[in-house]
Amino acid sequence: MNYCKANLLDLLAIEQLEKDCFPTEAFNRHLIKNLLTNTKSVIIKATEPSGEIIGTIIGTTKRENCISVGRIFSLCVLDEYRKKGIATRLVLLLEEEFSLRGIKKIRLEVSTHNNIARMFYERQGYQMTPHILPHFYNNGTNAFVLNKRLPYLSK
Ligand SMILES: CC(C)(COP(=O)(O)OP(=O)(O)OC[C@H]1O[C@@H](n2cnc3c(N)ncnc32)[C@H](O)[C@@H]1OP(=O)(O)O)[C@@H](O)C(=O)NCCC(=O)NCCS
Repeated sequence: MNYCKANLLDLLAIEQLEKDCFPTEAFNRHLIKNLLTNTKSVIIKATEPSGEIIGTIIGTTKRENCISVGRIFSLCVLDEYRKKGIATRLVLLLEEEFSLRGIKKIRLEVSTHNNIARMFYERQGYQMTPHILPHFYNNGTNAFVLNKRLPYLSK
């Protein structure tokens, strides 16, 4: 498996992957294009040697109360490639990228119905916060908010 940053040439493949992984919540082409071109966001892809994209992680950054916060905006791995450590590697690579950008804290939302993803993130060191976002998703489900502090890296 290869891992590297995605670029605009990957737009249609990422759009298809989102549709395959998130039947009701897939990001649309316009949003993915913005994420691929905005310097405050990063998309890392996992690819087969053939070049087929089989997983992606999308991160964004913003300043909040004078600190830079990272957000995991989307994470998906194609069904037949799951439970092989691919998402774990994608999260680690995004955390490294965030660290390089001076990010100290990462936040993410996960559906209150998505136990697999919640357990996955907890295993990666993300902690549940008391916050629940009501009707966060298009289908009306609520979201838990999880976060993680990154260790300080001196330059
Ligand atoms: C959540 C998701 C990204 C995990 O991807 P993955 O590549 O299978 O994850 P990994 O192989 O790195 O899993 C690491 C750990 O997560 C947990 N985990 C992953 N899938 C699991 C499952 N189906 N059941 C229970 N635990 C699971 C396990 O602890 C696993 O460790 P183990 O393999 O040693 O048991 C994947 O299931 C997915 O794409 N789901 C659909 C989209 C989604 O829900 N995204 C997250 C919300 S944005």
